[in-house]
Amino acid sequence: MTEQQFILNPDSYRDIAETIEKGKITWESPSNIALVKYWGKKKDQIPENPSVSFTLSNCKTITTLSFTKKTNDLVFSFDVFLDNERKDDFKPKIETFFNRIELYSPFLKDYHFKIETTNTFPHSSGIASSASGMSALALCLMSLEKQLVGAMDESYFNKKASFLARLGSGSACRSIEGDVVVWGTHKDIEGSSDLYGVKYPSKIHENFQNYQDTILLVDKGEKQVSSTVGHDLMHNHPYALERFKHANDNISELISIFRSGDLNAFISLIESEALTLHAMMMTSMPYFILMKPNTLEIINRIWTFRKKTGLHVGFTLDAGANVHVLYPEKESEPVIEFINNELVAYIENAQYIVDKIGLGAKQL
Ligand code: DP6
Repeated sequence: MTEQQFILNPDSYRDIAETIEKGKITWESPSNIALVKYWGKKKDQIPENPSVSFTLSNCKTITTLSFTKKTNDLVFSFDVFLDNERKDDFKPKIETFFNRIELYSPFLKDYHFKIETTNTFPHSSGIASSASGMSALALCLMSLEKQLVGAMDESYFNKKASFLARLGSGSACRSIEGDVVVWGTHKDIEGSSDLYGVKYPSKIHENFQNYQDTILLVDKGEKQVSSTVGHDLMHNHPYALERFKHANDNISELISIFRSGDLNAFISLIESEALTLHAMMMTSMPYFILMKPNTLEIINRIWTFRKKTGLHVGFTLDAGANVHVLYPEKESEPVIEFINNELVAYIENAQYIVDKIGLGAKQL
């Protein structure tokens, strides 16, 4: 599909819109963890390379969008609440989002919105809420669009929700569906697109069913460098072009790993991706490091434990110090024991979140 196909003509819904004065829509949308990372983007949130993620199950945002018709249709009007508390500092990000999507959601200025949101994961846990938060909001807006236009098929609904979410935060476009999502055009994945995420269309070996992701909260402080700034530093980065090619090659490799169920190859691939992401940060100008000493301690302990036990436990990182420990469901017991015995000493307040692959967002 093209961008043009997501443009909504106000004439197409004017009659029904007359009758819709107010309402309320709630969606819950999960976070996701990239296996092959998105790092570097072009204009309008177009990724420099495709990425593939596991949709998570327990880490999610629940957003209620209440809307009331207003008379002045020249400006956006909305209030934002997090856990019932007004959050004016969220407004600029949402204002930017509304500006970016107005062409595709032209009804935004017709209503006053109350956006109430809550996360299932602890505040300032270092877990980015932008993927779950932006996708939940995009889904609420799509439900409103669906009411306005009367009917919409599910595939268009999901694609456009992902398309809008992408314009809020790139990785958010991978949070609409489960259980494995690809965003960005890849030569070997039919239907893949730079504009939105799609459910991974090919065979996935049963070894990956209910794959576990336990998130170790190493550092809950504010990140020194935001993802947006980090993406920007990939422009004029000396290794950028190689990196973008490498990500494409890694996806080709991941396709065959998904087919064969080769867990050792899977671990090598995701760990290499995580370290490559951080290597890109360390070789940016200005350079920066988001890992903390405890991140490295945990990684080393995972390697030693894996060597000793032969269990299929591996890690990935996002743009921060937290460690995502990934392992197959049937190895859960010894891995959780290992986390409790050896790793909790290196995480803040011994706090970790047990999560796993999930099925995507849900309307409540
Ligand atoms: C390292 O999606 O947070 O988690 O598009 O600027 O909002 P923006 O960036 P964001 O970047 C995520 C980067 C990453 C890798 C990934 O999720 O693929």
